[in-house]
Amino acid sequence: RVSIVDLLRRPAEIIGADNNPAHSGIPLPADLYRPQRENSHGIEFGERKALDALTSAIAVERKTSAAVSTSTTEQANAAVAAARRGFRAWNATQAARRAAILDKAADLLEQRRARFLALLQSEGGKTLDDALSEVREAIDFCRYYAALGRKLFGKGETMPGPTGESNVLELRGRGAFVAISPWNFPLAIFLGQVTAVLMAGNAVIAKPAEQTPRIAAEAVALLHEAGVPGSALHLVQGDGTVGAALVSHPAIAGVVFTGSTEVARSINRTLAAKDGPIVPLIAETGGINAMIVDATALPEQVADDVVTSAFRSAGQRCSALRLLFVQDDVADRMIEMIAGAARELKIGDPTQPSTHIGPVIDAEAKQRLDAHIAQMKREARVHLAGEAPAGNFVAPHIFELSAASQLREEVFGPILHVVRYRAERLGEVLSAIEATGFGLTLGIHSRIDDTIEHVIDRLQVGNIYVNRNMIGAVVGVQPFGGSGLSGTGPKAGGPHYLTRFATEQTVTINT
Ligand code: SER
Repeated sequence: RVSIVDLLRRPAEIIGADNNPAHSGIPLPADLYRPQRENSHGIEFGERKALDALTSAIAVERKTSAAVSTSTTEQANAAVAAARRGFRAWNATQAARRAAILDKAADLLEQRRARFLALLQSEGGKTLDDALSEVREAIDFCRYYAALGRKLFGKGETMPGPTGESNVLELRGRGAFVAISPWNFPLAIFLGQVTAVLMAGNAVIAKPAEQTPRIAAEAVALLHEAGVPGSALHLVQGDGTVGAALVSHPAIAGVVFTGSTEVARSINRTLAAKDGPIVPLIAETGGINAMIVDATALPEQVADDVVTSAFRSAGQRCSALRLLFVQDDVADRMIEMIAGAARELKIGDPTQPSTHIGPVIDAEAKQRLDAHIAQMKREARVHLAGEAPAGNFVAPHIFELSAASQLREEVFGPILHVVRYRAERLGEVLSAIEATGFGLTLGIHSRIDDTIEHVIDRLQVGNIYVNRNMIGAVVGVQPFGGSGLSGTGPKAGGPHYLTRFATEQTVTINT
């Protein structure tokens, strides 16, 4: 078989001259879909004029939004009933029309970029850089699922059969689908879920995180304006109580959930125990994500990639690096360089374009992270313990553990845990990663093909990044999602995602 390392070394041949598969004409909707969101923010920070214009536009949009009220259980139940009624007409709407509406939503997002940037900063605490990437990702989800949906749902597939018989296989919507989304990507994941559900022909009841209701409310208004009928898209606001009411409703057709493993388990139990049809759960949860750095890695690149992976977005990404394994021969130097680079990060007001790390989401998150930091200060060696300004800010921290097992759960913030390993003990590193039970992202920094190949073959991890940072999966380029405790597997922003929201129907006609 062709070695994966060989494939990675021949990007031009595999994915087109500009290294972007969406431009190559090879993967599925390449002729229609162009990702906006690549790994840069698109504005050179040296370009003062462009930046000034953008920050002024955001300032104008920083007006207060309407108050959001929590939905009652009765309202949640009414939303399911209304979605069930709306489903038939939406499912009967031509796929091309549904796709055109999603493309229109992407156009509207582009026009209202400054408004959503302002909301992401004020409600989500996002830095400008993170907010820009997020709006791009949201636009990419709309356009990618539109392009994919035209292809998958456009017409049935004629199957081979005996003479005198025609056989056609079609994908159809399932019904009223519940979408429960997290606060860490309140626009991109919210819209990613909702647009996938809709493109597949389902009606949706969307329940965003209670920390970020306004972004969701404006995104829903935008989808309605783009042409999604009110009967096909319903918004329910509130915390886990209202989420639980939706999930336990006997008439829902499926659930898509992004959040903690614990909540995914509880949804799974509820779905299994209740009456009504057997319905799917598509879950994307977290991870104790690891990176392995051996002695052949380039130290400057490692420092840059580790800082990005562990501390960008204040570490509040499910893809973020939590556990860094460094070969002992180079560990002192690597840790010193990483800590040096992390010390340069500016923490504070996310509306200032020069800020690298904004606040964590709320006081509860800050308390949890502070408690973990206090525990690590007692149990681990401290390499970096920065000071944060007053408020819900947490400075980057680096702790060295004597064993990976000291980190028992996902810590959702800018805290990096380092473990040294000896080259001949790489097997123990892989066992330690497996023992976490998670499988979302993994980083490898090495120049040895055999090592890279061995790690990729051995570990069951959804997204593996070699010799680069391990966050910021691009829609249609790095389909994203994990296995084991990290989720049920389907890849958001990938070619197979929409089929998981659909049912298949075969029609055989005797002609
Ligand atoms: N899709 C996001 C990322 O890749 C999830 O955290 O970073």
